[in-house]
Amino acid sequence: MSKMGRVQGKVALVTGAASGIGAESARALAREGAKLVLTDRAAEAGNAMADEVAGLGAEVIFLAHDVTREEDWQAVVAAAKERFGRLDVLVNNAGVGGGVPLLESTLEQWRMVTGVNLDGVFLGMRHVCPLMIETGGGSVINISSILGKVGQAGAAAYCASKGGVALLTKASALELAPMGVRVNSVHPGYIETPMVSTALHEMGNGNEMRDLLITRHALGRMGVPKEIANGIVFLASDESSFMTGSELVIDGGYTAA
Ligand SMILES: NC(=O)c1ccc[n+]([C@@H]2O[C@H](COP(=O)([O-])OP(=O)(O)OC[C@H]3O[C@@H](n4cnc5c(N)ncnc54)[C@H](O)[C@@H]3O)[C@@H](O)[C@H]2O)c1
Repeated sequence: MSKMGRVQGKVALVTGAASGIGAESARALAREGAKLVLTDRAAEAGNAMADEVAGLGAEVIFLAHDVTREEDWQAVVAAAKERFGRLDVLVNNAGVGGGVPLLESTLEQWRMVTGVNLDGVFLGMRHVCPLMIETGGGSVINISSILGKVGQAGAAAYCASKGGVALLTKASALELAPMGVRVNSVHPGYIETPMVSTALHEMGNGNEMRDLLITRHALGRMGVPKEIANGIVFLASDESSFMTGSELVIDGGYTAA
């Protein structure tokens, strides 16, 4: 008999699943027995990810989805319901960086970052949780950041969006607990993904910046997506059944100082 996975039979929706932490979470959830609804605004890379995950033996659909668009969320939830009849796990992972200094930032840039990183998380819970509640409850995992706990010069909108996610998580956890939905946030340190490598590449002094960032992690390196995916699987599984409204910090000691 094959081994039962840690999230066997659960239906998990992962946004931003085409790259980085979302892609690695999709792989990890698939290996642990989940059925997957993968979404991303990058359709080609998202479809390729769905093919890869199907190769791991998971039942999976991919949907093109912009998390800032309410009508996209309605379509995603309807498609998930039609294909799987339920949703047990929501990983609100899609996000964008935004290294614009406060005094140079436009309202449009502010709204772009907070629109994806914070409005997107609100819309996700607003549209997915009714189905979760209807089918017996579930687990919502909102990807915040160390920059949702401490500030960083030059990243005001990003920090505001991620700090917002942390408290949106706690307020929602209190409201949804009686309905059987747990809501937790994950706070990664710097992780080797396209988001970080692109941001470093765009700075003239990317290598120096990278070395400086590494020194801020007590473990002396950046993390890798698998180290965040491990935490996401834990929060998705019933192993975390007494956790709600909490912050899972996976940061190599960045915020310990
Ligand atoms: N990499 C890090 O160091 C780090 C640290 C802390 C938190 N995070 C957070 O982790 C999450 C994943 O980041 P990553 O590093 O894997 O980045 P990434 O750039 O590799 O992947 C992000 C994915 O989100 C998708 N996306 C962006 N905007 C979208 C939108 N409007 N609608 C749908 N999809 C959209 C992108 O197409 C991409 O596939 C983000 O929320 C990020 O803020 C990352």
